[in-house]
Amino acid sequence: MKLMFIGDVVGSPGRNMIKEYMPKLRRKYNPHITVINGENAAGGRGITEKIYREFLERGAHAITMGNHTWDNKEIFEFIDDAPKLVRPANFPKGTPGQGSTIINVNGTKVGVINLHGRTFMAALDDPFRKADELVAELQKKTSIIFVDFHTETTSEIQAMGWYLDGKVTAVVGTHTHVQTADNRVLPEGTAFISDVGMTGPYDGILGMNREAVLKKFLTNLPVRFEVTKGREQLNGVVITIDQKTGKATGIDRILINEDHPFFD
Ligand SMILES: [Fe+2]
Repeated sequence: MKLMFIGDVVGSPGRNMIKEYMPKLRRKYNPHITVINGENAAGGRGITEKIYREFLERGAHAITMGNHTWDNKEIFEFIDDAPKLVRPANFPKGTPGQGSTIINVNGTKVGVINLHGRTFMAALDDPFRKADELVAELQKKTSIIFVDFHTETTSEIQAMGWYLDGKVTAVVGTHTHVQTADNRVLPEGTAFISDVGMTGPYDGILGMNREAVLKKFLTNLPVRFEVTKGREQLNGVVITIDQKTGKATGIDRILINEDHPFFD
């Protein structure tokens, strides 16, 4: 079976790409389960209920989040009624929402875990110990477990990949918005990539307008980052899974932009 994961969808350019390519990607890869990282989907910051529902309608079975989870305040109104939304599990105890879930697709159970890094990011609970806890819990119900580790550094995501090798089906990185070329299946059967990349503007700086980001670097004055317009891209991965063992047998990158056109 195949699991398709789409990296951080940024604003309306990202949602345009989901609308345009989701049907094409589903035809090409025929994934049993699709997961989208939606933490930047509403204007680059957070997600709304409407967007959450739109992603589900377009074929997503779960939506993962990250450091921008709370940036659109609307989330507090619907997160506890959004069973397919998974926010980082290592937020403090008592945080609204859920850090993991089990998705049942045509009788196949797939565990989905979202974790948040701590290097150059907010000092949340230990994602490694939290992973142990959740993996043990989910393993009672399924051997197919997907982990989206939303993290800044390649060292922290690589550490998590090796830490969970053999225990979960996949550990993929999100957050940096830049796709890495280190996709591989680790020796004990866990698919890994340091960062899946992002889905949204192709010519911005991490999806934001270049002028504002440059002004920040050149002057250090406060600026407002806006999602930039123009050419668009889609980044993702497709993971091939041995359904009996829950181990991954392959992980391929999806990279769609004007320099890397989509082929059926
Ligand atoms: Fe992020």
